[in-house]
Amino acid sequence: MYDVVFRSATVVIDGAVGTADVAVRDGRIERVAPSIGSPAAVEVPCEGLALLPGAVDLHVHLRDPGLTHKEDLASGTAAAVAAGVTTVLDMPNTRPPTVTAAALADKVETARRTAACDVRFFMALTRDNLDEVERAASIPGFAGVKVFLGSTTGDILLEGTAAIERALDRVPALFAFHAELESVLAAHRGDAGPEPDASSHHVLRPAEAVAEGARAVLALARPGRRLHLCHLSAAAEIELLAARAPGLTSEVSPHHLWLTCDDAPRLGNLIKVNPPVRTPADRDALRAALAAGTIDAVATDHAPHTIDEKALPYPAAPSGVPGLDTLVPAVLRLVQVGALSLPRAVSALCEAPARVASLPGKGRVAEGADADLALWDLAGTWTPSAATVRTRCRWTPFEGIPLASRPVGVWVAGRRVA
Ligand code: NCD
Ligand code: ZN
Ligand code: ZN
Ligand code: ZN
Repeated sequence: MYDVVFRSATVVIDGAVGTADVAVRDGRIERVAPSIGSPAAVEVPCEGLALLPGAVDLHVHLRDPGLTHKEDLASGTAAAVAAGVTTVLDMPNTRPPTVTAAALADKVETARRTAACDVRFFMALTRDNLDEVERAASIPGFAGVKVFLGSTTGDILLEGTAAIERALDRVPALFAFHAELESVLAAHRGDAGPEPDASSHHVLRPAEAVAEGARAVLALARPGRRLHLCHLSAAAEIELLAARAPGLTSEVSPHHLWLTCDDAPRLGNLIKVNPPVRTPADRDALRAALAAGTIDAVATDHAPHTIDEKALPYPAAPSGVPGLDTLVPAVLRLVQVGALSLPRAVSALCEAPARVASLPGKGRVAEGADADLALWDLAGTWTPSAATVRTRCRWTPFEGIPLASRPVGVWVAGRRVA
């Protein structure tokens, strides 16, 4: 007898939309077929609903340890699974920063005790921690190496490419880049006059900074290297991706697909984020590149800060927005408005990020895959509000913007969690 059978679900398999029964045993998907006769301990009727793989989020800041007033591994993963996200890759700008193998091992241990879903951890590369990175790379739970080419929350800046080349030669891992180039940021620091505000953010951190950073990353591409551009924000970056360098992948975040600098007067510091939201033309180029498959994945860059921290004057307010609650609803809303096909959405939320992160058991409804699944009413809508999000920081930049609805149910390793 199966543990769970999902009956007559809409599924997306190998890029095609169909209907199937999906049977789960011992945490895995054991069978996918037009009709499965055998009974199950739990029967889930799915007529009219879509059973999609749990989303794999390549980019979250769960703030644990050290900044747990904003989020921690328990609260962040609880928000994730409630929203249909069942694997997250955590970033290293915590306190202490994840720059030693011991710090990474500590996070793995905290996750083992408290996390509601799978979590993998990035280690930051600094000028002098290559030995530590090599050690960390053998820890189960290691996600890859994070490189900050420009300063952002946490200040783990790495200027110049010598240390990066050395690390790429020695560690055959995924290297993810925050690619705003520091020299360009520095050159524009005075550009918004003596009293910059939230509407100045995209002027102070111009598209030129990410375009130059993407060029620097492209120059590192070689067969066998795995380079990943985080949070694309500008049309200028898309043009560079057209070169299709070997082993180069990229992600875009929902706030860059939905919000622009025109929203800054309304949202103030709530939309202060690095890289900034830019012009409607940039947003449209990102949407088109996601639909075309030029951009591989959608990742949240979930970067919670408290509402009090965001209420500080612009120069002191921290950059970053929460996103786990709204990731899948924001992407499925693009499907509802005709900007994205359902197979492209599933690829960008599930299959592609699992491939980028080398997690073959994740991101697919397929026999043998982990039974991390979410059930969705594709026609439903939900308008996010501070009162309905689960992230510890309790606010969302999508307040008042209609998105697709939240999941009807979520399963991690075959167990219902939401
Ligand atoms: C992130 C954070 O707060 O940790 N902030 C942000 O604006 N995106 C850091 C980062 O990803 O750059
Ligand atoms: Zn970043
Ligand atoms: Zn310039
Ligand atoms: Zn980030």
